[in-house]
Amino acid sequence: MPPRNDAALEFLKTRRSRPAKTLQAPGPSRAELEALLEIAARVPDHGKLEPWRFVVIEGAAMPKLADAAEQASANAGEDAEKTAKARAQFDMGTCAVAVVVSPVPSEKVPEIEQVYSAGAVCLSLVNAALASGWGANWLSGAPSHDRGFVEGALGLAAHESIAGFIHIATETAPAPERPRPDVKAKTTWV
Ligand SMILES: Cc1cc2nc3c(=O)[nH]c(=O)nc-3n(C[C@H](O)[C@H](O)[C@H](O)COP(=O)(O)O)c2cc1C
Repeated sequence: MPPRNDAALEFLKTRRSRPAKTLQAPGPSRAELEALLEIAARVPDHGKLEPWRFVVIEGAAMPKLADAAEQASANAGEDAEKTAKARAQFDMGTCAVAVVVSPVPSEKVPEIEQVYSAGAVCLSLVNAALASGWGANWLSGAPSHDRGFVEGALGLAAHESIAGFIHIATETAPAPERPRPDVKAKTTWV
């Protein structure tokens, strides 16, 4: 039996995201990010298809994406509030990693399982960042579903999609706790 890892259990029991709007520079260096991505890629992956990839957004790319997100939202006919929100995600950010679902044709592994694996990458990246002492938050937002934005500004192919933008930087305020599920009510024992 593998030995009990109390530090890991304590981390998992108490982990919580840090709202992106409370994060500020500095963010991780390229070497630190590379280490986080190595950890994030260590996830269950049916058929070893590796059906995901990363787009790291840093430095001047963040305000450029803010402009593109604003434009995409306006093009989609969204109101001023939604358009400002679309922009804000990248305006307020220091560094973000787009986790891209990049499905691989497979007779054995349905696409939804490949999307689950990309979701696992997102959570692992958040957890790796939190465990390293960074603040981190998994966001999507309207632009992440806008084909013009994801293909034009992030270079996704037609078959790819965004599983999440993982924002990583220094936390500035204590993270608020949020209501947690009543696990007993959500569990059936058979
Ligand atoms: C796929 C996905 C997309 C999300 N997109 C957003 C978002 O666009 N805006 C937002 O405020 N929260 C979003 N969230 C929720 C945040 O990640 C939130 O901080 C998180 O649920 C906090 O949970 P934790 O404290 O257990 O980490 C999203 C969560 C997931 C799983």
